[in-house]
Amino acid sequence: MRKKIVAGNWKMNLTLAQGEQLINDILQTGLKLKEGQEVVVATPFPYLLKAKALLKNNPGFYLASQNVASEKSGAYTGEVSAEMLKSVGVDYVIIGHSERREYFQESNAALAKKIDQTLANGLKPIFCCGEPLEIRKAETQNDYVAKQLEESLYHLTVEQLKDVVIAYEPIWAIGTGLTASAAQAQDMHAFIRSQIAAKYGREAALHMSILYGGSAKPSNAEELFSCPDVDGGLIGGASLVAADFTAIIQKLA
Ligand code: 13P
Repeated sequence: MRKKIVAGNWKMNLTLAQGEQLINDILQTGLKLKEGQEVVVATPFPYLLKAKALLKNNPGFYLASQNVASEKSGAYTGEVSAEMLKSVGVDYVIIGHSERREYFQESNAALAKKIDQTLANGLKPIFCCGEPLEIRKAETQNDYVAKQLEESLYHLTVEQLKDVVIAYEPIWAIGTGLTASAAQAQDMHAFIRSQIAAKYGREAALHMSILYGGSAKPSNAEELFSCPDVDGGLIGGASLVAADFTAIIQKLA
């Protein structure tokens, strides 16, 4: 009943030519998506238009940006608004990635504004949450993630929440080769779903797609995706290699 999604976050990698090649390679595998499955490609801003043109006639393939401005429009040099993203054919927006939180000081409150801009323009947020290593060691990750959800999402109506996807990305697993175990991922995803249920009701919680991110690769994707509350993945490094990315997509249950 809920969408299964594999999203590739290219981060700040690849030239335009390399990106085009990657998308073409992915599409040329002839991958057939099953009902309810989606593939999302999150390119750097300058490639969005080109990526849209490549993806457009491929059912189930969607385009994402990796960020969006928290303001609507105006004198914000260097920023890109949700309206602009919509106008070039973007479908999803990654919001609150831990790299943006850490290196660009994005607060839960600022992320709430980004969520609002995104939804107001008919785009779907992929809202990232997840704890750093010291929080995991202190075993307080549930409280930490609950606060991220509360401060950035809980002002939304249940209707608005239908367009939100959550990605759980434990920071200690991102780009480190250290993946959360399937049990750790399942525990957190079930916790997130229970939080959504407590705030918005069971229906909303059952409808919510919750993706796992952090060193996901072809060799561990199947185990992660077989967890009942893991609805796919947000993939970094492995999304830059067509064979790896498509192998991960094929592990969707
Ligand atoms: P890696 O898959 O490279 O660990 O990155 C995960 C991530 O941050 C996706 O947004």
